[in-house]
Amino acid sequence: MNIISAQQEGNETVFVQQRNSFVQIEYSDMAEQMLSRSDVLHIRKDDEVYVLGDDALNFANIFNQETRRPMSQGILSSDEKSAIPMMKLIIEQVVGSPEYPGEKLYFSSPADPIDSDLSTLYHQKTIQSFLDDMGYDAEPINEGMAVIYSDLADNDFTGLGISFGAGMTNVCLSYYAVPVMKFSVARGGDWVDEQAATATGTSVDKVTSIKEDDFELDFETDVGGVEGALSIYYENLLDYVIEKVTEEVDEEDIEEGLDVPVVVTGGTSSPAGFTKLFKQHLEDADIPFSISDVRHADEPMYSVSRGALVSARSDEEERRGASGGVDESEADDGVDVDAEELEAHDDD
Ligand SMILES: Nc1ncnc2c1ncn2[C@@H]1O[C@H](COP(=O)(O)OP(=O)(O)OP(=O)(O)O)[C@@H](O)[C@H]1O
Ligand SMILES: [Mg+2]
Repeated sequence: MNIISAQQEGNETVFVQQRNSFVQIEYSDMAEQMLSRSDVLHIRKDDEVYVLGDDALNFANIFNQETRRPMSQGILSSDEKSAIPMMKLIIEQVVGSPEYPGEKLYFSSPADPIDSDLSTLYHQKTIQSFLDDMGYDAEPINEGMAVIYSDLADNDFTGLGISFGAGMTNVCLSYYAVPVMKFSVARGGDWVDEQAATATGTSVDKVTSIKEDDFELDFETDVGGVEGALSIYYENLLDYVIEKVTEEVDEEDIEEGLDVPVVVTGGTSSPAGFTKLFKQHLEDADIPFSISDVRHADEPMYSVSRGALVSARSDEEERRGASGGVDESEADDGVDVDAEELEAHDDD
């Protein structure tokens, strides 16, 4: 649902964000006027105008259209013919040009889902080629691993990171920056929205707005209404993810006596009460390792992009030979991590 970039400028991390969404409206004098007076991201093609990004929803409301999304279930949508050109434009706007040719860029990619046939390969290669064409040296990073880099630096990159996104939920168990288990499930915020919309006969766009606007997981309000339905499907999503973690950990033969923290993040983890509810359900579950604590990431929308930035900076430091070459551990997906270096970044 969102394309987000993170870039280091001096001591500051700068995030740029756009909704990964667009709406097609008919070209008219009114549309022309509205667009020419604004800095709305748009392109015109023959008699049609495409409005992209954050403004798509406003235009959809004004012109009584539904928004369309270049991605669904965490990867490029195969049902959306305009997916590739739309997404290319949004990415170009969010990422900008490299500072120098071959600047390192990590982009997050989901793990292959365990509950659907979707493959992430085509998505990954397509995004990589957009970014390479822009002049970057682009490489994928597993979304769950990015969460570990972003939020578990203070625990030696050891723990369970879970990113609750729109199309997917990504899970990664990492042991000293080595991913020992990673998977995704093809359910997230979109699934919650669709279920709640169907149950209450409300449009999906409307449900999404209600959810993002002050919805709380307190189970006190609105039984029978949209918020009540959202609570039910939120709880169902949590149980589903916990069940899959239990199954996958069993298969992976995780070492006995493991005691790790859990970090939950992603836009879907935003509502007040989410972390508490997740913790309660985790306590009731039969997870074959022990959990020291459950934390909510500081900025749930930004964890993944921050983690990708941590990786890119670590690579660049190494390339410059400034990292001193100590404490290196080789992660499965080819990311070199210097634990001390990364902790220093976190303190920035
Ligand atoms: N305040 C909020 N309350 C509830 N849900 C929210 C809030 N803000 C955003 N969301 C939801 O979070 C989801 C988007 O989260 P995020 O940006 O982490 O996902 P994504 O990275 O775009 O998706 P994916 O990881 O599946 O590709 C959407 O379902 C959105 O409706
Ligand atoms: Mg995501």
